[in-house]
Amino acid sequence: METIIKNSTLNIQKIRQDFPILSQKVNGKPLVYLDNGATAQKPKQVIDAISNYYQKQNANIHRGVHQLSIETTVAYENARITVQKHLNAAFPQEIIFTSGTTESLNLLANSFGKKYIKTGDEIIISEMEHHSNILPWQILCEEKGAILKVIPINEKGELLMDEYTKLLSNKTKIVAVTHISNTLGTINPVKEIIELAHKKNIPVLIDGAQALPHIKVDLQALDADFYCFGAHKIFGPTGVGILYGKEKWLNEMPPYKVGGGTIKTVTFEKTEYADLPLKFEAGTPNIEGGIGLAAAIDYVNEIGLENIGAYECELLEYATAKLSAIEGLRIIGTAKEKASVISFVIEDIHPLDIGTILDKQGIAVRTGHHCTQPLMQHFGIPGTIRASLVFYNTKEEIDLLANGIQKAIKMLK
Ligand code: ALA
Repeated sequence: METIIKNSTLNIQKIRQDFPILSQKVNGKPLVYLDNGATAQKPKQVIDAISNYYQKQNANIHRGVHQLSIETTVAYENARITVQKHLNAAFPQEIIFTSGTTESLNLLANSFGKKYIKTGDEIIISEMEHHSNILPWQILCEEKGAILKVIPINEKGELLMDEYTKLLSNKTKIVAVTHISNTLGTINPVKEIIELAHKKNIPVLIDGAQALPHIKVDLQALDADFYCFGAHKIFGPTGVGILYGKEKWLNEMPPYKVGGGTIKTVTFEKTEYADLPLKFEAGTPNIEGGIGLAAAIDYVNEIGLENIGAYECELLEYATAKLSAIEGLRIIGTAKEKASVISFVIEDIHPLDIGTILDKQGIAVRTGHHCTQPLMQHFGIPGTIRASLVFYNTKEEIDLLANGIQKAIKMLK
């Protein structure tokens, strides 16, 4: 089953060998892993980087004069630079290590909110946000008496940009929108979203959790004020992520979590906080996580995001055609600009039942509301079945998915 991609140098079977888990059997069947939107698998380059760290380097950072501590500090700070370069951020200190997308968003809403949000202010999000980009803003609005405004979507799952433009006003203090919808796969026009907000001097957060594995992000070209993602969806470890913020904002924002590492001086009367990025990085960080993230970024860059994009586009087209041909199957999310994520429902069958039967065939998909309940309410459905594909997936796996769905339908109808 050698899958060589035409017009591309990608050899998928060779790439798959980098991912030990992919050669496993699950429920007695070869694993078909199509739940990459929830978390992606890890190449041995990432696993080795983490294992090497524990075998040869382990020490705390930023606080030791001994050799291991110095080496580990250098490795961790180099990881920050790897992220900075990958995103084309202007300065390394604009890259804040967090525990993941969710913590990045909580940090931003808390810290930005404390400094800039007052009663009557407005915060704009969109109807396709996942809960982590809704709840922190909702709590902030409740605390401050601010108002949450929501950009609506059309039936294809695209943002209504005219409505967005109408929502922007001098009361708007921040816009927080996802780059790629985890449920629909929609790629939002984030450059335009940022440009429109900036015309009114409103800062913009882009949630890149689902974007980083699929597309090249250039923060200076985008001119995003804030950007966040988690390492585990870009083939890195869990428990580590990034909040990027323009230096001018981060300098003004107060610390969020405080403690060891965030300070210059402490007395019982007053504390002077450290400069960026340490002001936002309390306690011993996830050191192996940072190092693993850098290894993951290096890995993705070795394959090349352009190659990845071209291949995933082919996969998406193939999967869309294959699944659309199944009677009673309806794809939810048919935006013109779409990443390789396919959500669907099947007439008269609950998504969970399909997911369970697919699992018995070794096929891993996500079922349910995908942490986007308001989006489910928009479409009037309890949930979807979601296949989220990345560069190590193959057309053969899509065939297995389509056959598996057919089998499930026969069993359930
Ligand atoms: N937000 C992640 C997903 O879409 C967990 O599955």
